[in-house]
Amino acid sequence: MSELLRIENITKKFGSLVANEDVSFTIDEHEIVSLIGPNGAGKTTLFNSIAGYYPPTSGKVFFHGKDITGKPAYEICRLGITRTFQVVKTLKEMTVEENIMTGAFLHTGSRKQAQVMAGEIMEMTGLSDKKNILGGSLTIIDKKRVEIARALATKPELLMLDECMAGLNQTEIKDVMNLCLDLRKNGLTLLIVEHIMEAIMPISDRIVVLNVGRKIAEGIPSDVVNNEEVIKAYLGDRYHAEGN
Ligand SMILES: Nc1ncnc2c1ncn2[C@@H]1O[C@H](COP(=O)(O)OP(=O)(O)OP(=O)(O)O)[C@@H](O)[C@H]1O
Ligand SMILES: [Mg+2]
Repeated sequence: MSELLRIENITKKFGSLVANEDVSFTIDEHEIVSLIGPNGAGKTTLFNSIAGYYPPTSGKVFFHGKDITGKPAYEICRLGITRTFQVVKTLKEMTVEENIMTGAFLHTGSRKQAQVMAGEIMEMTGLSDKKNILGGSLTIIDKKRVEIARALATKPELLMLDECMAGLNQTEIKDVMNLCLDLRKNGLTLLIVEHIMEAIMPISDRIVVLNVGRKIAEGIPSDVVNNEEVIKAYLGDRYHAEGN
């Protein structure tokens, strides 16, 4: 497999607060990598630096071997990296279909084409019967679906999901897990931030762990959950005790 994303020594400071410190890792094409760690560990901050929401204070981001550090979000999205937001950004006055079309307009100026793309994605994400509902009237699960669907409409190579399973029930979580696996089968690469270990353990090829801004572990799920430092900082005894 060839390397898709490489981050090198990313540090992000907000004044004196160091939200990310010297974080490095790579993601290969078609991998599902999860980024975990306690609240405030710097997971969303790292997403923001990769996606061009703001530049890192220092360090580099490479996509397909090309330095994309500090490029604006729209340019990075056009190159093939799209992220969802932890606090969903549903366009309330627009229908589900229109919300998704806003993503499709990255690649087409045609309303008709954007509608066709949105239709395919609504099918894939289980939103077809809700296409005319206003974003503001949706339940949280559907708002999260729309968030993922709009991201998919930009046709990313790398999709970064920030806690898109939080607040969902078991069946809904299973749906999102299956969607992630389907997307990978269709050629996407995923970087997933998630606290629900039961959801990410079975679908992740690798897990990267952050704690207080620093990477403390990286590896296959079964190794990471048995790592003493990860247990101490984040997992507690849950997985260790179960011998997973
Ligand atoms: N724009 C900002 N300005 C100042 N401090 C910030 C900003 N964004 C994040 N921080 C701080 O950076 C640290 C990392 O925050 P971040 O949101 O990246 O954590 P997280 O791992 O995503 O946490 P959670 O699991 O709760 O979402 C926190 O201490 C947070 O308060
Ligand atoms: Mg976060």
